[in-house]
Amino acid sequence: MATSQTHRMFRTRVDLPTEQREKLVDLLNQHVADSMDLYTQVKHAHWNVKGRNFYSIHELTDTFAGELIPFIDEIAERATALGGHVSGTLRMAAESTSLPEYPNDLVDAIDHVHALVERIGIYANSVRAAIDQAEELRDKDTADLFTEISRLVDKRLWFFEAHLQGND
Ligand SMILES: [Fe+2]
Repeated sequence: MATSQTHRMFRTRVDLPTEQREKLVDLLNQHVADSMDLYTQVKHAHWNVKGRNFYSIHELTDTFAGELIPFIDEIAERATALGGHVSGTLRMAAESTSLPEYPNDLVDAIDHVHALVERIGIYANSVRAAIDQAEELRDKDTADLFTEISRLVDKRLWFFEAHLQGND
């Protein structure tokens, strides 16, 4: 998890102890960064993909990117609802992301699918871990948000993985 988060906390009537709220805000900021990074990576694939599976990957990446946008907003606003500060710019996200950078030389759709599956897999599993982390911090609302995201991301991961399965 990123250590360079701003720890400024605002007073709120949300009755979770400040120390827990700080940890939750860090967790949420990490997922703002990862989600923004994944969003741009998925759009990068959307724009550059070519080859026999062009259309399905071009469309699927756009669908998934569109689904990530409201999640970024909800994750960020959960941080502010807990009295936290959001590190919300692209450059802040680039500093904090836990995803590997996307290769800039891919062309064929299947190569893009391999790169996307690796990254969406990392993202999906860290969102799943965040459900438990939020539960441990006794914040069922944040756990519920991550659960909603996890369910959707696992489904999209399957849609991408299915392009590779069957040839195994
Ligand atoms: Fe487009």
